[in-house]
Amino acid sequence: MAHTVAVIVGSLRKESFSLKVAKALARIAPPSLELEVVTLHGLSFFNQDLEAAPPADWVSFRETLQKSDAVLFVTPEYNRSIPGVLKNAIDVGSRPYGKSSFNGRPIGIVSNSPGPLGGVCAAMNLKQILPGYVGPILQQPEIYLTGVGDAFDDKGNLIKEALEKVLKQYIDAFAAWVDSHKK
Ligand SMILES: Cc1cc2nc3c(=O)[nH]c(=O)nc-3n(C[C@H](O)[C@H](O)[C@H](O)COP(=O)(O)O)c2cc1C
Repeated sequence: MAHTVAVIVGSLRKESFSLKVAKALARIAPPSLELEVVTLHGLSFFNQDLEAAPPADWVSFRETLQKSDAVLFVTPEYNRSIPGVLKNAIDVGSRPYGKSSFNGRPIGIVSNSPGPLGGVCAAMNLKQILPGYVGPILQQPEIYLTGVGDAFDDKGNLIKEALEKVLKQYIDAFAAWVDSHKK
């Protein structure tokens, strides 16, 4: 049976390149993975006061993580870090204390930018804040997608061959690694 992967998109933008990358990954993933693209619209701010009776959107987000076998973050970089919406999602998913919904799930990180650095600082920040309440984080191969601004046509199709090639290499490696962790 295929391993299910929650692909968390770190941008709310309608024409988000991160969302397009996530959809491209879902399309080219090998049959051993089933990718579910998860956007963060409607996920309310974490507030510890609400933990006794968590809002429905937190419960639903946590359930999405709990029923997945692995988690893949696809994120842009905002001011040399991850966007606030993604940090909020990590805060929501990591609580209540000791009951992180990310627990034990292998993690992949795909950063991207229209610029020349590929969101590498965002990916590094994620690697810094995730340990402790997630499963293992795939270290190699690394993937920081540069120049995504002209990678898609106006229907959202991936038209940059070189980018498709590195995405395919990454998702195949991620699939093999998730498989080795789940056996
Ligand atoms: C508040 C803000 C901060 C940004 N900071 C960075 C940055 O540090 N590094 C970078 O490569 N791009 C930065 N950008 C540009 C984003 O990479 C670009 O807007 C990108 O399209 C956002 O991702 P999305 O297409 O998935 O929405 C920033 C954009 C915004 C709105």
